[in-house]
Amino acid sequence: MAATFVMRGRHEVLRTSALAMRDADCTAFLQWALPQLELNWAGFRKVRRQVCKRMRQRIAALGLSGFAAYRERLEGDAQEWQVLDQFCHITISRFLRDRGVFDHLRTSILPAVAERARSERRAARCWSAGCASGEEPYSIRMLWDIELDCGNPRTKMSIVATDIDDALLARARDGCYSRSSLREVRPELIARAFEQTGSRLCIQAQYREGVIFLKQDLRSEAPPGPFDLILCRYLAFTYFAPSLQQRILRVFAARLVPNGFLVVGSHENVADPRFPSIAGMPHVFTRAD
Ligand SMILES: C[S@@+](CC[C@H](N)C(=O)[O-])C[C@H]1O[C@@H](n2cnc3c(N)ncnc32)[C@H](O)[C@@H]1O
Repeated sequence: MAATFVMRGRHEVLRTSALAMRDADCTAFLQWALPQLELNWAGFRKVRRQVCKRMRQRIAALGLSGFAAYRERLEGDAQEWQVLDQFCHITISRFLRDRGVFDHLRTSILPAVAERARSERRAARCWSAGCASGEEPYSIRMLWDIELDCGNPRTKMSIVATDIDDALLARARDGCYSRSSLREVRPELIARAFEQTGSRLCIQAQYREGVIFLKQDLRSEAPPGPFDLILCRYLAFTYFAPSLQQRILRVFAARLVPNGFLVVGSHENVADPRFPSIAGMPHVFTRAD
């Protein structure tokens, strides 16, 4: 028994150290490559395994021997940087992700947005930057239409949702999801806003109205605005380098109405005098007037 344990233990140690070495190679590679794409290694640390997996597949497809050879390839091939950039898109999302942030949206931020739009006799405007497969903009749409009393006649909200990834945008327009994407949504809300189609839940037509999906690279493009509310969660403030974050914040400042709201993820922060945070809501910032 002890011998088996020792044997298995040795195997485990060998396998773990081989894995660790590969992980260390990939980490070293990312620490070299990410800053050149103005991306932030600290943001990628936790999700590096999925990025490393894609890279290993790419290295194998190119017939290269490992990360060192891939680095050499990149040094002489400007096009390959674009391929690498795509491997660095992290696409995790779900409806009402970060329940606490969405509670603040429901109870305070969206009512304030609605009140302002109503008093200015116009539709409210929202931008979801890095919208993945539409979970975030449709979450806003559901809260706005179902949970908020937007007056009679109802104040409308238009939502522009942008992402760099064509496949995700196609899924967003399709609007159908597995039940696991909806695990933070109350059953009554699911029953109101979705219809079952086979094994998937599809957002009903009325909750798609006013949601427009656009392919845009946040590093160089932005919808015109102005917006009452911008959500930028788990993109710029996790994965972009600080210098790029600053440029994005300038764009957000230009696109938000005075005292408009910027919402980030619950693991993110914006330390910028143009965007003071709101008391009791550490992930909601206003554009200082
Ligand atoms: C982790 S997901 C976040 C989705 C959603 N905001 C949320 O919090 O659930 C990040 C999204 O940003 C997109 N993305 C990555 N780089 C981008 C860029 N430069 N411009 C626009 N979108 C980008 C990815 O395709 C992905 O859909």
